[in-house]
This record gives sequence, C-alpha cells and structure tokens, in this order.
Amino acid sequence: MPDPGPGVGPVPEHVAIIMDGNGRWAQRRGLPRVAGHRAGAESIRDVIKACRAWGIRYLTLYAFSTENWSRPLEEVSALMDLLVEYLDRELPELKREGVQIRAIGRWRDLPERQSRKVQAAIEATRANDKLVVAFALNYGGRGDIVDACRALAEEAAAGGGRPEDIDEESFRARLSTAGMPYPDLLIRPSGELRISNFLLWEMAYTEFRFDQVLWPDFRREHLRAAIDDFRNRRRTFGALPEQGR
Ligand code: FPP
Repeated sequence: MPDPGPGVGPVPEHVAIIMDGNGRWAQRRGLPRVAGHRAGAESIRDVIKACRAWGIRYLTLYAFSTENWSRPLEEVSALMDLLVEYLDRELPELKREGVQIRAIGRWRDLPERQSRKVQAAIEATRANDKLVVAFALNYGGRGDIVDACRALAEEAAAGGGRPEDIDEESFRARLSTAGMPYPDLLIRPSGELRISNFLLWEMAYTEFRFDQVLWPDFRREHLRAAIDDFRNRRRTFGALPEQGR
C-alpha cells in the first residue's frame, strides 16, 4: 500500500490511541492471544512512521493499563517480554528518525528489567524532537490524577505551596503527561466505545474516532481516515462556533 500522505489540511498535533483488539485478532486465527499483541507491535511501527512523515508531533499509545495486571499471568509476562523485545528491536531506528520516547503512568513500578529498559530508551532519545511517542505503561487515568494530587499535597505539606495557589496549570504540571499538549484526536479501533481509564483529565476536549478495524490490522491508511474525519469536526472548546479555534 503506497503512503496515502497526510492529505490537505492541518494534522492534529497530538494523537492518542487505545490499541485494542489484539486478542480477537489472534482468536479469529486460532492463535494464542500473545500473537495478537506481537502483530500489534507491527502496527505501532507503521503508525509511528506515518506520524513522523506527516508532521504529527505527539503520539500517545496505551500499551499496558493498571487494570491489565488482572489478566492471566502468562499474558502479562508475554506483554512484559514484548515490551523489552520491542524496545531492543526498534530503538536504533527510532533514535535515527529523531523520535523521542516518553512513558506515562506508573511505569517505574514495572518489573526492574522493563523499567530499566524504558528508562534507557527515554535517556537515549531525550534530545530528539521530530516526534514524541509516549507509551502508557502501567497507566490509569484515575491513578495519574491521584498521583498529581498527592504530589501537590506533599509539596504543600513540605511548605512549598498554599492550597489557593493550586490551579489547572499547576495540577496539569504534576500529571505524567506534563509538558505535552492535550490530545487533539483519540482513536480506538476494534469497535469498543469506551475510553477505559485513559487520559481522563487530558481528553476534556479531544475528538474521538472509533474504528471497527482490530489493532493488528491498523495501518497508516486508518490513521489517514481518522485525520480526514478529524478535519471535518468543528472544535469550539465550549465557545460558540464562530469563536471556534
Ligand atoms: C488490548 O487488546 C491491547 C493490549 C492490552 C496491549 C497492547 C500492546 C501492544 C499493541 C503490543 C505491545 C507493545 C508494546 C510496546 C508493549 P486486547 O488484548 O484487550 O484485545 P481484545 O479486546 O480483542 O481481547
């Protein structure tokens, strides 16, 4: 499939994706669920390349939620192995392509091997500025909000701030997405119509695009279709249409 290109018009600055449908993709082929996750890593590769080529600046991928720990141990360990495998395989090219890796969520609480790998990938790509790819790892939107509250409370308790000084900007700066713009577009493939504890604070004005395709079949043409759809949305951020930004 030739690159469909970004098309005419602005691209969203920040795209967030809930990479759903890996298990169903595998089941339909009579394969173990992990085969779906492995195939999903290929979709990540194509989507990153397209974002890089089309000038999208931020891509946030929901790779492992705090709720995913309750899956069978075998699947959890396969996902953990896949994370290491993915970073080992992809990091050299991501580095070359100017991609900056970030992680959001309680990723430091991943098993030591994984958290070290993630830390190393963050450090190795810190100076890159073509595209930021943020992996949500051990992430939950509610947990991230609680962590931000805790950080503010600890600072206040240590004498570093007064409750009346807390505002949306100071709160935002304590989320694990601090420094990133809010997502313009959320894409969820696989037909589910939920946000599943993803970026709860950040998605207040995000445009949603739901797609039937399963994540392992998701390619840049699906991203392109989502961007076309996004371009037809009228975003007013609560103002009147004629005031819309
Ligand atoms: C949801 O599909 C997907 C996940 C829980 C994992 C997402 C992980 C990857 C795409 C690959 C791993 C890549 C890295 C970088 C770790 P599901 O299993 O819930 O699908 P289902 O709803 O069809 O069962």
